[in-house]
Amino acid sequence: LQPPLNQSLLGKPLVEELQTPALILDLELFEKNLSEMAQHCQKHGIALRPHTKTHKSVAIAKLQLAAGAVGICCAKLGEAEIMGTAGIDSILLTSPVVAKAGMRRLMQLNEIVEELMVVVDDRANAEALNELARTSGAVVRIVLDLDPGLHRTGVLPGDSALALARFIHDADGLEFAGLQSYAGHLMHVESYAERRLKSHAVMDMLAEFQHRLGSMNIPCPLVTGGGTGTYDIDAERGVLTELQAGSYLFMDRQYNEVLDPGDHSLGFDTSLFVQMTVISAGSPGLATTDAGFKCFATDADSPLLVGTDIAARYFFFGDEQGGLSFDKQETIEIGSTLRAITPHCDPTFNLFDYVHAIRGDTLEAIWTIDARGCVA
Ligand SMILES: Cc1ncc(COP(=O)(O)O)c(C=O)c1O
Repeated sequence: LQPPLNQSLLGKPLVEELQTPALILDLELFEKNLSEMAQHCQKHGIALRPHTKTHKSVAIAKLQLAAGAVGICCAKLGEAEIMGTAGIDSILLTSPVVAKAGMRRLMQLNEIVEELMVVVDDRANAEALNELARTSGAVVRIVLDLDPGLHRTGVLPGDSALALARFIHDADGLEFAGLQSYAGHLMHVESYAERRLKSHAVMDMLAEFQHRLGSMNIPCPLVTGGGTGTYDIDAERGVLTELQAGSYLFMDRQYNEVLDPGDHSLGFDTSLFVQMTVISAGSPGLATTDAGFKCFATDADSPLLVGTDIAARYFFFGDEQGGLSFDKQETIEIGSTLRAITPHCDPTFNLFDYVHAIRGDTLEAIWTIDARGCVA
């Protein structure tokens, strides 16, 4: 990894001079989001296990833990290895690990992370993990993944899921830690009433399943799931013991359009931006910046410009270029800097090596995005 380009600006009130494109984190807003979610969880008796797929950064994960999180979630084994090696001692892997080499890596990680948990949704996977654990004299903590209707991972909450729970509970090399159900398909449901109704239905499904486990004498101390789109609804039924929210730290255009502060007790602020520089402005009403497709995830809408003196709209103009369109009477100077709210924060964050943490105009820190990229 190349050292950060903007290192010489650390501690200086020269954010405008950052070499761009640069990922910018407004610390005041970030810290507000960080502590408000922690306080929300504390107030409602639910533990916070933030999903670090949002930022993949050890520095940020440690701030979440310092603010009261009980541990972290990781999507990929490679992310968990980086977080675990950095000393984070409670990690839930929210995707199954099924490849042989991956399962062997998991066993090694299990030796260094005090509380490592992994989801399972398949009997053969559970058997293979049990076999590996038994031969090395270890025990692997398993969270049974239940499908809330997203159909991405998880078993449907029927008899075969109960049989899988029974197997995990009884296996010598496994410990049944509890349940995960992540309703990703509900996070961006536009109507709050509909999102709430559907989320409650998932909670009721989980409560019913937990009840059935109880009648089979399988204790279920952990029920984990939820995200930023349902963070306030998730605690209402008292079923989830842990909230896995991630995007609340940064927010993005997608979430800003869904989370209406009128519906929610907290309004999370957008703390994450991409800063770019105007590199060309030859045509009336048009300018070109140095941030194109490679600087933003493109699965959602386009980036939203903030803080410009004139009304300008960002459009993708190429791999390395963004376009600005504005009134032909107006001008945007070459060399001027602009910021945009990201359409979707997690996959955008993943595109950068570093994030620039700023307070006002001062570059306070540059944090490495340690597990960035397509990690296996
Ligand atoms: C399993 C799981 N849990 C939690 C989250 C966090 O969701 P959000 O970023 O919406 O808070 C995600 C995000 O996709 C996820 O995949």
